[in-house]
Order: sequence, then C-alpha cells, then structure tokens
Amino acid sequence: MSVTDPQPPAPDPHTPAPDPRADAAQEALRDRIAADSLTTRRDYLRIVATVSGGLAVGGVAVASGILHRHGDSDAAPDVKKIADRIEPGESLAFRYPGDEDRAIAVRMDDGTLAGYSAVCTHLACAVLWRKERGSEGELYCPCHEGIFDARTGEVTAGPPPRGLPKVILVEEVDGSVWAIGTARSGESLVEGFCRQNGDDRPGCPGFGAGGPAAPARKTAERSERT
Ligand code: FES
Repeated sequence: MSVTDPQPPAPDPHTPAPDPRADAAQEALRDRIAADSLTTRRDYLRIVATVSGGLAVGGVAVASGILHRHGDSDAAPDVKKIADRIEPGESLAFRYPGDEDRAIAVRMDDGTLAGYSAVCTHLACAVLWRKERGSEGELYCPCHEGIFDARTGEVTAGPPPRGLPKVILVEEVDGSVWAIGTARSGESLVEGFCRQNGDDRPGCPGFGAGGPAAPARKTAERSERT
C-alpha cells in the first residue's frame, strides 16, 4: 500500500468485533444451499410499497441512480430466512437485502417459487402480485399499468424499461425459504449469485474446473416435485 492509498478506518472501540464463527456459518450456509439449487431452482417475486408522497421523488431517484436498486450490489448480502413455508398460490412480502428493501415471494400453482424486486423499474411504484391474471398470475404495477412476467420478471406490457431485479430464493428440505442474493434486471440467478459470491462457488462456472459437478441435492429435487 502506498502512502497515497486511502487508509483503513481505525476500529471503533465501541463496535463489537466481527464474530468469525458467524461469518463462517453464513459462508457455509450460502455454499450449502447454493450447491443445492442454483442449477435447478426457479424464480421469484418481490413487492415494494412506495407511499404516494414519495413516488415522484423515488422515481426520479431510482431513474437517475441516486437510490440503489435491488440487485445492484456486488457484495453478497446476508442469507436470510423469509418463511417456514410458502404453499402453492401463496405470496409473501418481505425485506431483502436491506431492511428497507421490500420484496415479495410467490409460489405458483405448479410449485415454482420466484422472487423479485417489487420496485417498478419505471417510476418506482409498488409492484403487486395478481394471482388471478393470466394462466399463472402476473406482477402488476398500478401506476401506469406495467406488467411483468411472473416466471422471468421481464416486462410484458406498459412503460417499464426493463425487467424486475430478482431475489435469489432457495428452499430447504424442511420447506423453509431463504433469500441468498440478488440479480440485476436481465441477469440470470446464477449470474447474480456468482457475481456476488465469486465464480468459484458451487454452481458457478468456475467451480471445480475439471472436477466433479456440484451434487444435486434433495432440496432441489423437492422443489421440482412441488
Ligand atoms: Fe410502474 Fe409507471 S411506475 S408502470
């Protein structure tokens, strides 16, 4: 490090030191569930509610890049359990990756589980789940009739300029649902996960080059069946 490089901040004596065991547990959990599901898991949905007074400001801020959008971070967010179970036809609002990042998970009737940012990519209105629309429901923005495909998050109608960022969700063997990362608009779940966690992770293109493929696990099998 040269003398002109920025120096790391001095540790705050009042801030607890990071717990290496907690970090290790997060890493282990992330690898374990990623190995399960990246090659087999399906998409999700997310909803964000923006209060009326904040719509214009929020829209401009999102459009101009002042506010971050879901999936923008290159750092891996924490793994977070969002539900003990989500049954077919159910949706669940949750926050991820941050406490202010509202989201929705939806399980479609064929068992597909999907998660998206719920901030409309047009002017940041709340995107809602309409289960009764179409053959398997849709994501709908009431502000200007924007509609997103439930399986891909891509725009199917209205003015949104791009699809919804995704929340990477996985399901464990006990039915619990976990958020493990995000993907940008137009980015696949695998691409988002590998960007945030490193290309050498299980399920990523650089993992075990020349070695055995990441094993398919029971979680993925269960997700396929449900
Ligand atoms: Fe969603 Fe305009 S803010 S369609």
